[in-house]
Amino acid sequence: MRVPMIAGNWKMNTTVGEATELVKAMRAGLDQIANVDKVICPPFISLAVVKELIRGSSIRLGAQNLYFEEKGAYTGEISPLMLADLCEFVIIGHSERRQYFNETGEIVNKKLRAALKVGLKPILCIGEKLEENEARRTEEVVTEQLESSLAGIDSLDGLIIAYEPVWAIGTGKAATGRQVSETIGLILYNIAQLYDEEVAQQMRILYGGSVTADNIAEFVQQSEIDGALVGGASLKANEFLSIVRQTSEIKGHLSR
Ligand code: PGA
Repeated sequence: MRVPMIAGNWKMNTTVGEATELVKAMRAGLDQIANVDKVICPPFISLAVVKELIRGSSIRLGAQNLYFEEKGAYTGEISPLMLADLCEFVIIGHSERRQYFNETGEIVNKKLRAALKVGLKPILCIGEKLEENEARRTEEVVTEQLESSLAGIDSLDGLIIAYEPVWAIGTGKAATGRQVSETIGLILYNIAQLYDEEVAQQMRILYGGSVTADNIAEFVQQSEIDGALVGGASLKANEFLSIVRQTSEIKGHLSR
C-alpha cells in the first residue's frame, strides 16, 4: 500500500525566526493526524533549526534543492552529504529551478543520482508549460522529462514523483482531478515501460499547483493521486493542517 503524502514547499519564504514560528504553529496539529506522511521543506538555512523543533514528532523534513557534487570548490552550493545529515527528502527538478536556474534534464538526472546515492528520497517534479499544454504536447513533454531525469538509474527506491503542470503553480488556477489523473496514468505507463509494473504500482505520485484547503479533496479523491506538493498554502499553519487532515480522511480506504 502506498502511504499518502502531503509535502509543503516553503520556497524562498521565512526567515529562521519565521520558520520557527510556523513549525510551532503546526507541530501539535500535524502530529494528531495519522496515515499521511507529513513533510515540510523549509529553506536550507532553517533545516537544522527545524530538525530540532520536530524531533520526536511525526513530521518529516525535506530540502528544496541540492548540488550534485559531494564536496569541493562550488561556492554557495549545498551537497547531498550535507543534506543526508539533516533531512530525509529533497525536491529535485522543480519547474522554478528549471525556469530560473536553467536546470536541464541532464542536471536533474545528476541531482537525482547524487540524492539516491546518499539515501535521500527525491521528490522529482515534472510538468508541462502552458504553451505545451495548449499545443497538446503534455504527453510528449512529460515522457521526455521522465526519460531524461531517470536515464541510467536502476533503482527508484524512495523516489516520489510530483506532477506539477507549470501553468498551475502559484497561479491560483489548479488543474482538475480528472486532468491530473489522466497524466498520472501516462506517468505510470512510462514507469512500467522503463522499469516494470511493480515499480509503477509502488510509485507514489503527488499533484502540485495551487493546492488549497478548498480544492485538495478533488485531488485526493482520485485513487491515482497519492497526495500533494503544496507551495503557498503550506505557509499558513491552519490551511496546511486542513489539507493534511482532509487527505487522511479521504484516503482512508482508497487505493489505485
Ligand atoms: P503552489 O506551488 O502551491 O504555490 O502553486 C506548488 C509548487 O510549486 O510546488
